[in-house]
Formats: sequence, structure tokens, C-alpha cells
Amino acid sequence: MNILHELQTRFAHVLSDFTEEPQPFAEMVKPAQDTRFGDFQANCAMPLGKRNGVNPRELATSIVEKLDVSDLCDPPEIAGPGFINLRLRDDVVEERVNDASSHGLVGVYPVETPKTIVIDFSSPNVAKPMHVGHLRSSVIGDSLQRTLRFLGHNVISDNHIGDWGTQFGMIIYGYKHFVDKNAYDQNAVGELARLYRLVNTLSDYHSAVAMIPVEEARIETLAAALKKTEANTDPNDKKQKKALKKQRADVSSAKESLKKFEAKRAFVEQHEELKKLADGHPDIARLARKETAKLHAGDVENQLMWGQFMPHCIAALQGIYDLLDVQFDKMLGESFYNSMLAKVVTELEEKGIAKESDGAKCVFIEGNTAPFIVQKADGAYTYATTDLATVQYRIKEFKAESVLYVVDARQSEHFKLLVETIKLWLDTDINLQHVSFGTVMGEDRRPFKTRSGDNVGLESLLDEAVRKAREIVASNDDEKTDAEGNPAPELDETTRDEIALIVGIGGIKYADLHHNRESDYVFDWDKMLAKTGDTATYMQYAYARIQGIFLKGEIDLTELRKSNFQVHLDDPAERALALKLCRFGEALDAVVSEYRPNLLTQYLFELAGVLTTFYGECNVLKADNETTKQSRLKLIDLSGRVIKQGLELLGIEVCEKM
Ligand code: ARG
Repeated sequence: MNILHELQTRFAHVLSDFTEEPQPFAEMVKPAQDTRFGDFQANCAMPLGKRNGVNPRELATSIVEKLDVSDLCDPPEIAGPGFINLRLRDDVVEERVNDASSHGLVGVYPVETPKTIVIDFSSPNVAKPMHVGHLRSSVIGDSLQRTLRFLGHNVISDNHIGDWGTQFGMIIYGYKHFVDKNAYDQNAVGELARLYRLVNTLSDYHSAVAMIPVEEARIETLAAALKKTEANTDPNDKKQKKALKKQRADVSSAKESLKKFEAKRAFVEQHEELKKLADGHPDIARLARKETAKLHAGDVENQLMWGQFMPHCIAALQGIYDLLDVQFDKMLGESFYNSMLAKVVTELEEKGIAKESDGAKCVFIEGNTAPFIVQKADGAYTYATTDLATVQYRIKEFKAESVLYVVDARQSEHFKLLVETIKLWLDTDINLQHVSFGTVMGEDRRPFKTRSGDNVGLESLLDEAVRKAREIVASNDDEKTDAEGNPAPELDETTRDEIALIVGIGGIKYADLHHNRESDYVFDWDKMLAKTGDTATYMQYAYARIQGIFLKGEIDLTELRKSNFQVHLDDPAERALALKLCRFGEALDAVVSEYRPNLLTQYLFELAGVLTTFYGECNVLKADNETTKQSRLKLIDLSGRVIKQGLELLGIEVCEKM
């Protein structure tokens, strides 16, 4: 058990004398903000005192009297209005750090009750190239799978690819009418992507042409109503003013959408070739939908085509996963569940959960305006139906106790409805968790797009990261000098390439993971590859610096790790470093309890800070005596192992030299 958890448990025990619900108050034991006052601080006496109508300082005294932490801490101190400050005993820190140092998993012990957890992540819609939006799900999901597994859980990672959606109808239609065979033979995925874009553009064109008059009429009506309101609004009446504001907003949003339709029309009309194709395929949207329906109904030609496209699509994805070093246990896409969908709907109907509405079959959930549509009026099953079948399958086949969906925040409505429908449908206490995340933004603080407005392709982004990292690695190495100040680069070209890959990919991943996943973040090359600051590069340097010390001191690591020397904590900087190292498990527990890898990057960044202070205060190779030197070597060795392990749990590698 980690120290924080141990202290909280002790507090919960005592606090049960003062409240029926001790847990939330016990959780107010936190790492101290200001380490001058101790290592941990409990703030529970203030809110609890207020609630119970007793003086918080007196309550703190009573808590401390009953609290039994003498085996872990120096006698607790009460400060200010009733803060309880706790300082771990030096011998306890020493014992723990020595334990971590001799432990294969750096002092992190597996959970007592492992859970079976499915992580549904990455899950791109195939047949379109992966773009920057897929980065987040891939790296957050991967980090969670690594961390949960490290803690001893039974994890099944499942890439729920979108291999059955309407995009297939579009590329089948595209393939039947517009394929460039040569281009397809040379680069199937590239050609399929072109076909997808083409069919999309042509469908959008026709719907824009149809919508423009409708939108114009709507604007006219809205504008007329607005004019009337304007004439009759009393400027001192708040309610009326609010209504006026709303009407104005409606008019401008209608104008915005008209502009978008006009742009879509203009785009095709400006290109003679496209216009010709559009005129030749006036009903393209409906026909593409029909191709999807035929595929789903088992049409032989369409199924063959699908079967021919899929291996190319999967190979293209695999290339990216290899580069990212992301692995899945399963890749059960939407198509896998096709045969189970009819039964899902029948069951929902039989149980009275799904009802017919305008020809479609829907589950209505109280408090939600939009229903969960499980079968459309034309008979087609939906994304919702597939997700329902998938939950049932994961319970049955994997004995899943939890499913984590690492998916864009824009799908939160879908997952809310999924959770509620499962509660009605299945007798299960499965925990379905939407691990949602925000958007990657460009410098203009809008969703990150290329200059032409397309999504940024993931492959080119990763290549660019490695290219930029290569420049940085080379220029750093070129700047190295020997004792006389002469240039003394250390790395050959192959090593530079290897490091560039690790630094470039690591930089992108870390930049993504160190943000609170729910926030949007701005993609910034300079920041993510910087040598200092909260970056992968900084952490990788911290690791390489430790290896550099071993190299310089000609330290044999196997010997060091085998030796009977113990870590001794004489200097405050040694103690601070040791304590931080003992708290690695605490950071990992926090990561998995909130599904937030940024709590791990934060821990590592703080560890690097404590390590820098340690170097400033304590000489390692030139320590006063052999015992101290060996103790410090063990301490930095453990630091290196924790950094390496921590980065590995983020999916980031280290280099011995940089
Ligand atoms: N393919 C979906 C998309 O790209 C994401 C799927 C997420 N997983 C799930 N079980 N719904 O939007």
C-alpha cells in the first residue's frame, strides 16, 4: 500500500469516532504543499469541526490523541486553525527507499484485487487516413493500458475500428464509378481516401444546392421577426433584451450556415471536372447509402470489395501503430458485431426498452431529449446498436468488470445514453467509463488543420516530429566539446537516427499526455521538443545524465545493484529525493483512479526537479567517503529506474546517451 493511502486508512479509522462517513474527510490527508511543515498534511479538522459545531483546533487535538501513526511518522503537529502536519520518520523513508531499490518493480506492488478491464481506444474509422485527432485516443489509451497492467490488473485492449460504417458505402460507390486503377495498385489507401473525399464533396455539393434556398427563406423569416422585436423591445426590460439577443444570434448563425453551403457549392462550381461529375451523379448521397445497406445485407459484390479494401486499410493503420509502439490485444471492429445486432434490437423491444418512433426504433432516456436510436426507419442498425452488442460481448467473452472508452468529448452524449440503456437492458454492474478528451488545436486556437483546411495526417505529423528531433539531436551533439574546448561530438549517424526517433515520438506523446485530458491544447513544436520545461526531452536528458555519471565513474551497475551498501539519508536533499521516489506508486494509483496520465507526467517533472536540487547539494562521484558515494549511486540509480519506468508507462523510451 502506498504511504498516502496508509495514512488515509489510519485517519479513516480514527475519524469514524467523529462522523458516520469518515472517508471523504480521510481523503483530506494530502501531500504537504510546503515541505517545511512536513511531508503530509491533514485538513479535515476544519470542515468536520464546523459541521460538528466544535472548535477545529480542539478536534485536531482529539484526532491526534487517538491517531496511531508512530510506526510511520514523527509525532504529529497541529498548526494554525487545526492543520495536522505529518512528517515521516527518517528511518521509515530510508527503509522504504532501500526496499524500492532492491525491488524489481521499483517499490510498486500489484493490487490485491485485480480487475478485468477492457480499454477501447484508438478505434479510428478506417478507409480514411488517420489524422491528428486519433493521436489523443491512441496515446492516452496506451498509457492507461500500460499503467493498469503494471499495477497488476487484467487488461484487454481492444481497437474497436470503424470498419462497417457509411464511409464504406461511399468508397464502394466511389470505386464503382471513379476509381483510378493505376493509382489504386500503387497506393490503395491513398486512392481510397481520394474516393472517399470525392464522394463526400459531391454529396455535400448537392445537399448545399438543395439547402441554400431553404436557408435563405429561413433567414428572411428570422430577420423579419427580429425587426419586429427590435421595434417593440423596451431597452429597460431585461427579459425582452435577452430574447432580442437570442434572436440576433439565431440570425447570425443561420447566415453562417448559409455561408458554409455557398462555399461548398462554389468549390465544385469552380472546378469544371468536379462540376461535370456532380451533374452526372445527382443522387450520389442516397446511392452511397444504398451501397452501405447492400453491404450490410450481405450483397456479394460489395462484401468482396469490402474484403479487398480491408487488408490495405489495416496495413496502413499498423504502420502508424508500429511507429507509435502501440499494441492491442484485440482488433474487433464494428463489422465483427454485425450478426448480433438484430437480436439486440429484438431483446430491447421485447423488454419494452426500445419503442417505435417515426418508423425508427429508439430508447428514450429520461432527461435526454435525443433518443438512442437502435434501428433507423430504413432498417439500418447504428453506431449505438453496435456499441450495445459490444458491451454484451465483452461481458460474456472477456468477463469485463470495467470498460474504458477513450473517445473524444464530443461523443459524451452517446456514452451517457449507452450507459443508461445498458442499465435497463442487462443485469450487470459493469462500470462503463467514458474517458473523454479535448481537441488538438492549431496556433490559431481552432482545431488543428492544414492550410487548405484538411485534417492534419498523423503519419506526416510523426515524420515531421522525427525530422525536427534529428536536427536538434545533431546540433546538440555538434556543440559538445572536450576538456580543451575542441569540438567532440559523440554520436554516429545511426545513433543520431535512433535517438531522433525516440525523442521525436516521445515529444509528441508527452506533449499530449501532460495536458489534463479534458482540456483542448495547442500543438506547439517548439514547446514539445524543448530541452527544458515539462517535456519528454527534459525527462530523457535527466535519465541520460544519470547514465553519464555511471559512465564517468566507471560504475558497474550489476555490481552496484548486487552490493550490500544501503541508502543512507543524511542530507535533506537526499531525503527529499528518496521520499519522492517512494511515492511513485502513489502517482500511479492517482493515474488509474482518475484515468489521467498527466498525474504521472506531473510526478516525473517534480521528480526531475528534486533530482536537480540533489545534484546541487550532494556530490555523487566525489562524495566524502565510500559509504556515502555508494548510497548516492544507489539513489540516482533508483531515480533513473523510476524515470525509465515512468516514461515507459507513458509509452516513451529513453536513451542511454543523448
Ligand atoms: N470509430 C469511432 C469514431 O471514430 C470511435 C469508436 C469509439 N469506440 C466505441 N466503442 N464507440 O468516432
